[in-house]
Amino acid sequence: RLVVVLFGGRSSEHSISCATAGGVLNAIDRDLFDVIPVGITRDGAFVLEDDNPAKFALDPAHLPEVLDNGSRVRWPDSIRSRELSVTTADGAERSLGSPDIVFPILHGPFGEDGTLQGMLELVGYPYVGSGVLASALGMDKHFTKTVLEHAGITVAPWRTITADEYRARPVVASEALESLGTPVFVKPARAGSSVGVSRVSAVAELEAAMATAFAEDWKVLIEAGVPGRELEIAVLGGRPGEPARASVAGEIVLSGREFYDFDAKYLDAPGIDLVCPAELSDGQLAELQSVAIRAFEAIGAEGLARVDFFMGPDGGLIVNEVNTMPGFTPISMFPTCWIRSGLSYCDLITELLDVAAA
Ligand code: DAL
Ligand code: MG
Repeated sequence: RLVVVLFGGRSSEHSISCATAGGVLNAIDRDLFDVIPVGITRDGAFVLEDDNPAKFALDPAHLPEVLDNGSRVRWPDSIRSRELSVTTADGAERSLGSPDIVFPILHGPFGEDGTLQGMLELVGYPYVGSGVLASALGMDKHFTKTVLEHAGITVAPWRTITADEYRARPVVASEALESLGTPVFVKPARAGSSVGVSRVSAVAELEAAMATAFAEDWKVLIEAGVPGRELEIAVLGGRPGEPARASVAGEIVLSGREFYDFDAKYLDAPGIDLVCPAELSDGQLAELQSVAIRAFEAIGAEGLARVDFFMGPDGGLIVNEVNTMPGFTPISMFPTCWIRSGLSYCDLITELLDVAAA
């Protein structure tokens, strides 16, 4: 089958998406799938990329990137035509064939937020992962929390502040801090990989944190910091009529770092250990898995998601967020959780493509 692997994109997680694609291009079963690698530049141009996993390896010294090579991939202009084509840099046009499925391995706005999913719906290609609504919900931390709370799932207390509101009354931020207690996390509503996120433990740090978050989005959350363990569950959606499945749990163990920030996630910064499977009782694991699937279903997710938790000292669970296109490099938590649950990285990719095509 012919698969379009789509990566890069306009969000601040561009390079993480490229690194994820590098992992997938490297591991996808070439006996089962032919691959068309399509990159999206930071400016949003769709370019035909090299089928070269090494080009997109996650290198902390030089994060990978899609550059404009002058080619342009053309989506079909009617749902009757399934043909993808490319105009090369020298102006020649050629067909890339008729893809059976698209794997949009994109993180953040314009990739993980329903916009790209909407485009794929319009052109009529099946794709891996959540549809328009669940993607949009999962991307927006305010609406994720609102929907989860409505489904009876506990989330950390928070206050959402828009740029207009903050401009008119900057004191809303310190009022939120006062009512939530310290520390708080200040987060852009729609970003990932901890881009734009600050941990604030005193009111003097608040203004800079708000500016950092507003640089990413005009909607910002101030969220109560939750004491306890940070645990993650990987969920795989089923084929039509089949239930979703949950993996063993992974744990982020802080050893000297204040939180699991971008540098710790991707740049090998010290002070974080990823442990999988996490040490838990059977009852605790079953509870995490059950809440993860409830969260997956509450936002209407499909295909895959990583559900991130805090477990309080008393064992109570708080869902932090639902990532509808979690980081997917071979060392990322999502594939690690499945590898530890008995599904190899290669088989996981096949499973995602099979479920999406089913
Ligand atoms: N947003 C990043 C890629 C994650 O959730 O893993
Ligand atoms: Mg996230």
